[in-house]
Amino acid sequence: NDQLILKIAEAMQKSQKTVVLSGAGMSTESGVPDFRSKDGLWFNMKPQDVATVEAFEQQYDTFHSFYQQRIHDLKQIEPHIGHKTIAKWQQFNLVDLVATQNVDGLHEMAGSDPVARLHGSIRTFHCADCQKAVTEEDFLTKQCPECGYGRVRPDITLFGEILPQRDWETALHEIKQADLVIVIGTSLEVYPVAELPSLTSGKTVYINKEAPPLASAFDIVLEGKAGEILQAIDRAL
Ligand code: NAD
Ligand code: APR
Ligand code: ZN
Repeated sequence: NDQLILKIAEAMQKSQKTVVLSGAGMSTESGVPDFRSKDGLWFNMKPQDVATVEAFEQQYDTFHSFYQQRIHDLKQIEPHIGHKTIAKWQQFNLVDLVATQNVDGLHEMAGSDPVARLHGSIRTFHCADCQKAVTEEDFLTKQCPECGYGRVRPDITLFGEILPQRDWETALHEIKQADLVIVIGTSLEVYPVAELPSLTSGKTVYINKEAPPLASAFDIVLEGKAGEILQAIDRAL
């Protein structure tokens, strides 16, 4: 692995444009469960029951309590050293953009900027009927202050919905132009994000606890924990 760590550090120093693409595996070391690991969210709940448009429309109470729990759990959560390392690289122009599937806001809390939020944010809310931006309080009380009856939801992308246009376009454009794309903590199971790394003309690096089939298409594959590997790369820079 030391050789691969050095290769990544060299590629970062040579790269004119570097994009980091992250998934839920980037947040597990902060105590946020991912989706498809052994103790992931999709082993206690079915995505169809809480993460689809149908779930929102047809079983709002199940939907609501799932996100109420996730919002509550996020209260005590902090970014870990891996988030902070990526934010530091952005400050030193070693990374140009963080594109994330995560809705927990941990990259932003660590100081990363810009961040393309490909699946939105669980920290802000809107009314599904009048589209008004509302507060967490309005979500918790299930009450839209504007139209009074609309169902309030977090600003996340549910399965079956299109992704936030501006964030998607930014990530797509930057990844296509990148010399280096570093993918961290995602199973690459969900489209259209899973397709992004294959669209770059630059080098691709996959850092993940396990290496699913799509990983074989990467120039460098490092199996392991995000926090440890990011620190090792940082020491090699
Ligand atoms: P999909 O991956 O094809 O996505 C369908 C729609 O959801 C797309 O229009 C896309 O824009 C949108 N989307 C993309 N990423 C999203 C995200 N992170 N959150 C919410 N919506 C997103 O989904 P599908 O083909 O309808 O299959 C259902 C999904 O459920 C699969 O993508 C898979 O990830 C998941 N799934 C998980 C398990 C498991 O974890 N055990 C089993 C079956 C399916
Ligand atoms: N370090 C590195 N990799 C990790 C770590 C860690 N500490 N913890 C978990 N992983 C890996 C897991 O092995 C898994 O392959 O991260 C990956 C997380 O994959 P998923 O749980 O599928 O999460 P993600 O890829 O972000 O899911 C995509 O699916 O349900 C939707 O909206 C949801 O945005 C999410 C999307
Ligand atoms: Zn409303």
